[in-house]
Amino acid sequence: MTTGSELAHAISGSTRLYGIFGHPITHSLSPLMQTFALQHHHLDGLYVPFPVQPDHLPKALAGAIALGICGLNITIPHKEAILPLLDEVSTEAEFIGAVNTVDIRDGRTIGYNTDGTGFLMPLQELPMSFADTSACILGAGGAARAVTMALLRAGCPDLTLCNRTPERADRLCSDLRERFPQARVNWVPFEHAATAARDHLLIVNTTAVGLHPGDPQLLPETAFRPEHVVYDIVYRPLHTELLQMAKQRGATIVPGIEMLIGQGAEAFRIWTDHTFPTSDVRRLVYPLI
Ligand code: ATR
Repeated sequence: MTTGSELAHAISGSTRLYGIFGHPITHSLSPLMQTFALQHHHLDGLYVPFPVQPDHLPKALAGAIALGICGLNITIPHKEAILPLLDEVSTEAEFIGAVNTVDIRDGRTIGYNTDGTGFLMPLQELPMSFADTSACILGAGGAARAVTMALLRAGCPDLTLCNRTPERADRLCSDLRERFPQARVNWVPFEHAATAARDHLLIVNTTAVGLHPGDPQLLPETAFRPEHVVYDIVYRPLHTELLQMAKQRGATIVPGIEMLIGQGAEAFRIWTDHTFPTSDVRRLVYPLI
């Protein structure tokens, strides 16, 4: 049975409230990760999933401010829609066109996108230097925006996008060149992705291909070599076919769950100024994928 003192530790008159807005929200791993991190640091806080219908987003945000909620994660379908509702938006979130974290201070809302910082975190643990790393990016959508901006900010000098739709790739390319004039940024049509992959050190899949059984194969086995670092941002299954193939060819692989943990770590830092217990969170969530 739970004792009174345990309950007093779990919740108090000054408990700070955090949460996530999404719809549906039942499969989110964020409540588990963030609750674990709050408890790890003995912080007096609670993290709650809020199933917010698309039409209710403005009311839900106003409600969060009125209730004194301190921080929110924002997921599908609200990541883009929340932008115009916020008082301030970070440079990254503006560039990506999506917010996944909101900090609420003194009634003011500040929107962030922690995907890029989260994406970099597992790479920072590898013996590689961004300044010496060229990257081949599959896709040119919202996720590719987060990944490419983070890589160029970290000092990656050379980046090639592979995309089916020329307009999208062209737009992202010119947006990146404008912000990072010192870097070499190009794009190639998707049919040249295998050649592009062979020529770069880091390969990142930013598309959702690999999530569903029967999805097309993005790259042939021959695209991979042992020097490669291959990162798939798809996190279900834990090891996508792309990662399995890369591993068989001797490459270093990074599963998408690492980016999910990383984006949560950065949100937690923004809200609490505490570091995420990443190793423990890994042990917690890897078996759940
Ligand atoms: P997100 O915000 O998750 O990045 P998005 O903005 O819709 O989603 O972008 C999806 C990306 O995956 C796009 O670059 C898309 O390519 P197109 O611009 O040509 O549509 C890419 N994508 C989706 N399915 C793909 C497939 N079967 N093969 C190659 N690229 C694919």
